Amino acid sequence: MRATENDLPFIMATERREGYEAFVGRWDETRHRKALLDDNHTYFLGVGDSLPIGFVILRGWASAEFVTLVKRIAVVASGQGQGRMLLTAAVDRVFVETDANRLCIGLFPDNHRARRAYEAVGFKAEGIARGSAFFNGEHRDELVMAQLRPEWEKRRSE
Ligand SMILES: CC(C)(COP(=O)(O)OP(=O)(O)OC[C@H]1O[C@@H](n2cnc3c(N)ncnc32)[C@H](O)[C@@H]1OP(=O)(O)O)[C@@H](O)C(=O)NCCC(=O)NCCS
Repeated sequence: MRATENDLPFIMATERREGYEAFVGRWDETRHRKALLDDNHTYFLGVGDSLPIGFVILRGWASAEFVTLVKRIAVVASGQGQGRMLLTAAVDRVFVETDANRLCIGLFPDNHRARRAYEAVGFKAEGIARGSAFFNGEHRDELVMAQLRPEWEKRRSE
């Protein structure tokens, strides 16, 4: 489901979970509020047993270039298949609700858990974008992963 301003405390607590600081960025409330209300970002909340399990932030929702980015994803309890479930739902929403042709995601190359989860939902590693993330005051390389609409259609029909 779409997240609202009421979900920001949960989203901010989740991106600040211990152990996540090496993998995921953190925004303050002003930054989140701005993104939540602009046309470029879309926030989804994953819910299981009526409790939030994680969130996904997409950037470039219905963009003129037909390219959308998974800007951030985090789940409360990692390694239990919830991220995969949440991302599958978000991927479907992108390709069903918009005309996106490409959905991409950037991750730190040492985030093996995330890579495995992304591969399981159809993302393919494309290469390293050197210095593409500015993270905690440092320029960092990112592994770019993506899936294209025809690949998603094929997966869906299998
Ligand atoms: C990335 C994230 C959303 C993935 O969701 P998740 O629920 O943990 O992922 P899943 O449990 O669906 O899948 C994880 C896979 O990685 C594997 N895995 C777990 N730890 C691993 C490790 N250290 N190295 C390699 N693989 C690992 C799991 O076995 C599983 O694969 P399998 O089912 O094929 O065995 C979640 O881990 C998370 O919130 N991480 C912290 C924030 C983060 O890294 N965000 C992404 C930034 S790009």
